[in-house]
Amino acid sequence: MDKKISVLFVCLGNICRSPTAHGVFQTKVLEQGLAGDIQIDSAGTAAYHVGNPPDSRSSKAAKRRGYDLSSLRARQAVTVDFDQFDYILAMDTQNLRDLQAISPANYQGKLCLFLDYAGMSSADVPDPYYDGEAGFEHVLDLVESASDGLLQHIKKELS
Ligand code: 4NP
Repeated sequence: MDKKISVLFVCLGNICRSPTAHGVFQTKVLEQGLAGDIQIDSAGTAAYHVGNPPDSRSSKAAKRRGYDLSSLRARQAVTVDFDQFDYILAMDTQNLRDLQAISPANYQGKLCLFLDYAGMSSADVPDPYYDGEAGFEHVLDLVESASDGLLQHIKKELS
């Protein structure tokens, strides 16, 4: 395989949901020996937290399940991402609309809701930012399920 398959996870701030998806998916890719085939990144539709590490509540919840988010830093999604990534996965319906608004017309097909890969059509990964501990655990449950589905899908493409 000469070219890696590239995956971009996108939420609003890039400090809770998309870095969680980034870290969970990265770990699963490494565990399956596919790090040479799949490239992963994450971004936010907003610039509020650019350069910041993930929210400490997300990092702690992820760490409890064995995922390390410590190297991740927030960045904003930009138009060139549509050229560079094969899969652009929005955490919620508003993120999807915001991405559609900046996507060149011929790249709209790369975009979808991440939970489509958990078999949950039209479903959002709810924003835990203003929530308690349980919100962060729920994000991890959803993200783990969709990551498994996405990896199965990409493995078919690689075979
Ligand atoms: P995220 O959560 O989109 O999952 O990173 C949020 C983080 C920060 C804000 C909103 C959502 N904020 O408004 O600062």
